[in-house]
Amino acid sequence: MTSLHSKIAAALKSRENRLIRRRLSDPDADSGLVDFHTNDYLSLSHSEQLRHLFLQKLQTAPEVLGSGGSRLLVNGHGHTALETRLAKFFDSPAALLFNSGLDANVGFFSCIPQPGDVVVFDEYIHASVHDGVRASRAREAQFSFEHNSVSALGELLLHLLNERPSLRTGENSVFVAVESLYSMDGTIAPLAEIVELTESLFSRGNCHLVVDEAHATGVYGPQGRGMVATLGLERRVLARLHTFGKALAASGGTPARFIGFPPTTAVILTDEPIRDYLLNYARSLIYTTSLSHANIVAVGCSFDFLENGIAEKLATRLLDLSIRFIDTLQNLIERNGIPPSLLSLPPHLTAISLGRSRATPIVPVFTSQPRPLSTYLRLKSMNARPITWPTVPKGLDRVRVCLHSGNSDEEIDALARGMTEWARSEMIASQVKGGGSLGLQSKL
Ligand SMILES: Cc1ncc(COP(=O)(O)O)c(C=O)c1O
Repeated sequence: MTSLHSKIAAALKSRENRLIRRRLSDPDADSGLVDFHTNDYLSLSHSEQLRHLFLQKLQTAPEVLGSGGSRLLVNGHGHTALETRLAKFFDSPAALLFNSGLDANVGFFSCIPQPGDVVVFDEYIHASVHDGVRASRAREAQFSFEHNSVSALGELLLHLLNERPSLRTGENSVFVAVESLYSMDGTIAPLAEIVELTESLFSRGNCHLVVDEAHATGVYGPQGRGMVATLGLERRVLARLHTFGKALAASGGTPARFIGFPPTTAVILTDEPIRDYLLNYARSLIYTTSLSHANIVAVGCSFDFLENGIAEKLATRLLDLSIRFIDTLQNLIERNGIPPSLLSLPPHLTAISLGRSRATPIVPVFTSQPRPLSTYLRLKSMNARPITWPTVPKGLDRVRVCLHSGNSDEEIDALARGMTEWARSEMIASQVKGGGSLGLQSKL
């Protein structure tokens, strides 16, 4: 073994010992299980109607395979037309396609912040923003703030203003990066408050909000336009990221796998000068072959579903299922006296009764034993994955439940019951071990 290979083997072994080694799952292992883990929130990857539309459009598309090169060398008609359509739909001055959400975030954050600028981000921001900022000219001036805390953000911004005269004069800028719906916690950013705060502190307009709508696209807002559109903040944010590979199944889903697409597709909505700058400096856009023509057709079909209102109906069903799941599980937890160490829902989902505007397709169920819980659910033919450190902070291990509009009421109830049964069996096992009486009565 070379010294390189022994170092690599040692690192992997260390991950194995700490139970954090990542592995690809067996593609056959999940078949037949009820899906509570993919980001196919609107179940569009299984939509016969979408598949049919896509295959029909492919038949008549002038170009299907490949794209011929970087967007800067070969600019497809379909690519340009799709950007025009997206800019109009999302009410944005301009739109720029990227091959994935990761490429878009890396491209944007690695080049837009200028020397002397500062980047501030929610502590739970996606890894792709970190990757971009690390490669940027603001890498020495990056700061995080407590998740979704407007007061923590305010304190940080005031501190930066005090410390840096160039921010006070408006010579330099601050970028604030948030997600509208956070993928690990199902929390929704207080976007309106954040905009109010940044505008009041930076009257020269040099604090710019960048909103990642990857998980909100198709799920929230008029015709699935996302949270910025729901709140009418289109002109008050610098840039928005929408991805098509999640709720919209425009790649990665069944139709996409059918002809072997690249992993995902995404768009940055912003103004013309920023779009132009990205075309000139975003390396993740310049130095890669652009999306295949077939991929562009797929995104177009998904957008037909947004425009014709089908996605909005599916999103309503999805959010109703989320409310049902949260209510059912919370009830069972309380009726069976299950301790939070075994099962608990986060306060933002249980503190007040949920309406559709606060319901989310992502429900973290906290537990100190995410792997045994997930394994138990698998035995009951349900696939909900454990999420542990380092993906989430230590002490916040969970089984993350992703709901889909294609789930039935019965599947949702079975999931809540399955989680409770597992917790009860753990309670009984620990009573037996501790020699206590078995006074537990099932309230399933
Ligand atoms: C919040 C967020 N932003 C960006 C991305 C990257 O998007 P993509 O999967 O299109 O690369 C993800 C992917 O999981 C995400 O969760």
